[in-house]
Amino acid sequence: MEQDKLISLLNDMSLEEKIGQMLQVSGMFYTEDGVLTGPANTAGFTQEEIRLAGSVLGSVGAEQLKKIQREYMERQPHHIPLIFMADIINGFRTIFPIPLAQGCTFDPELVEEGAAAAARESAATGLHLTFSPMADLVRDARWGRVMESTGEDAWLNGRFARAMVEGYQGHGSLKEKGRIAACVKHFAGYGAPTAGRDYNAVELSERTLRDDYLPAYKEAIDAGAATVMTSFNTLDRVPSSANRWLMRDILRGEMGFEGVLISDWAAIGELCSHGVARDQEEAARLALEAGVDIDMMTNCYCKHLKKLVASGAVSGTLIDEAVLRILKLKNDLGLFENPYKDADAVQEQELALCAAHRQTARWMASESFVLLKNDGILPLAGEETAYIGPYVANGEIYGAWSLFGTPETTVTIEQGIKNRGDVQAYFAEGCPLSEGFGRAKDACASDKPAGKLLQEAVELAKRADKVVLALGEHRRHSGEAASRADITLPACQMELFRQVCAVNRNVVVVLFSGRPLDIREISERAAAVLAVWMPGTEGGNAIADVLYGDVNPSGRLSMSFPYCVGQVPVFYGQFRTGRPYTEGMEDQYVSRYLDIPNRPLYPFGYGLSYTTFAIGPVQLDAQQMRRTDRLRVSVTVKNTGSVSGSEVVQMYLTDVHASVARPVRELRGFCKVHLEPGEEKEVSFEIAEDMLRFHDIHMNYVSEPGAFRVYVGNSSETENGAEFVLEE
Ligand code: GLC
Repeated sequence: MEQDKLISLLNDMSLEEKIGQMLQVSGMFYTEDGVLTGPANTAGFTQEEIRLAGSVLGSVGAEQLKKIQREYMERQPHHIPLIFMADIINGFRTIFPIPLAQGCTFDPELVEEGAAAAARESAATGLHLTFSPMADLVRDARWGRVMESTGEDAWLNGRFARAMVEGYQGHGSLKEKGRIAACVKHFAGYGAPTAGRDYNAVELSERTLRDDYLPAYKEAIDAGAATVMTSFNTLDRVPSSANRWLMRDILRGEMGFEGVLISDWAAIGELCSHGVARDQEEAARLALEAGVDIDMMTNCYCKHLKKLVASGAVSGTLIDEAVLRILKLKNDLGLFENPYKDADAVQEQELALCAAHRQTARWMASESFVLLKNDGILPLAGEETAYIGPYVANGEIYGAWSLFGTPETTVTIEQGIKNRGDVQAYFAEGCPLSEGFGRAKDACASDKPAGKLLQEAVELAKRADKVVLALGEHRRHSGEAASRADITLPACQMELFRQVCAVNRNVVVVLFSGRPLDIREISERAAAVLAVWMPGTEGGNAIADVLYGDVNPSGRLSMSFPYCVGQVPVFYGQFRTGRPYTEGMEDQYVSRYLDIPNRPLYPFGYGLSYTTFAIGPVQLDAQQMRRTDRLRVSVTVKNTGSVSGSEVVQMYLTDVHASVARPVRELRGFCKVHLEPGEEKEVSFEIAEDMLRFHDIHMNYVSEPGAFRVYVGNSSETENGAEFVLEE
């Protein structure tokens, strides 16, 4: 429909209809066969308000959504179609690794392929939009939602946010078959809650917000993300859903975002809890003035906007602007011509968990694993191996946001090993997943007494040549509202680890988690440690592929493993301080701890391989760089080992002196290169002036002339570098 027809439609709509388009309700109000259940709800909606709501979240199923749509349009005075949205964070039926793991692939093209597969499955079930990518920068492992981000580096997160948007939306029209709209979230700064506690206040300087926290959202918006979601947190004590500076000046003014802005669940109503709105009426006014177009799951808008317009407290123009953006989104999706879009029960069945999507999920999982330690025990061969631990046969290895994944469709380690057929393997649970706390309490119990589990496991470990211990945190101990002050493994798992290590020196730990954990003791005592995060549907097969060397691990950490929780937030892009400390320094008055090192246990960009690589010295094609130049940086990379593998060559830049303190280094390039044994390749990058920009002492986004260093290596700690000067 042309823009002018949308405007005439808008002008024909009553104020009630318009306000109805600004409400999103959960699918819980619709029965299986699509019938509206009405006010059987806790949020206090009337039947009429639900009937007029312009979008639904969380419902899936081609036939059901077609029924809901048909019934909804029939009762609409202008037959405006619904838009169906859901959280497809790392896959719909085929579950991919959690986004934090996807960040460890350092492979945006692969991540785009995964997002495209998720979009195909979602579109066939009748969905039109996913609440993804989550582009929040995360540097505090206590926060449960680090699992949803691609990590601690703003620039890397931007690459992945773009990849996901392009995977979901494609590069053309949203009307294309198999494409769904993206929603970049949570705008803004949600990943930096005080004390790592979810929903807590975020206190960032404007410079840190602009230099570190905004770029990934902007990359997603520049990639064409159709919608943005507000975050729950306050920023500088202003809740995002009422933050006009953030939403109108920055998001729409500076970033040029013209799409739909939707609140997070109940975030408008929560302005009262924040204490910045006396009541829901004031909350509705503040949110509308901030530019929030859709009220997710509260009735602030539908109960108060009409009155606010009638009293002149808000202008009807603000409502028209919001509703026009909503109508445009539905139009861009082609819903006026085809309100069912790709909903198709046959396609839905054919695509769900299809072989091609499983293969992509398996490959992405194996690419996301990070080999943290290996004394040579890996890869395994034909030796007798005992697989022990609560994650040996547990199918819940798909992360907290995998709403439509199931254990039945997920390959466990035990199944993955048995699928190989050629190995002598024995299996034991060893201990419950954890003593259980929070929402996972009942799910962690085991049906056998703990003592017997442990005894069986230790006996098995005694007899085996090698042991693979499958340990980790429960999938519900990360994700939303799942912050943890203690990021160690449960005591029962550590007891199992100690007792197994006491009878067998050849212990490999396969670690499942939604966050970096404190694994000091495991790192010290195990012969090998493989971080597999939450690997998704094909997790067991991917783990078997890597353990037996069919796939050489190439994941690199997208988030640092802290030495312990006392160190967080810890990330590679720290500041030098006026009293920098380097390991081994004896000076007392320097920036250090008395009891632990400054360095994380494992740093950003780190990961081992079954082979070794040599990265040669950094070559620059000039030592001086004018602003219009593109400085070429190159290294040679050689596979100096005996098996093929991939290295992630990373380029970091250091601004040696500037008008404000600058991070010790910042990632500005990476290249994953596959090499046969003995093979050598040249890897090159280009430095452009805009890669050197930051917000200077006057808050101007500029580069400043002077000395820079460029480092190229296989982690954020590489010292393989060279210097250049940016001229005036
Ligand atoms: C949740 C999350 C958000 C999600 C939304 C809809 O509270 O914060 O990420 O997209 O509600 O489920």
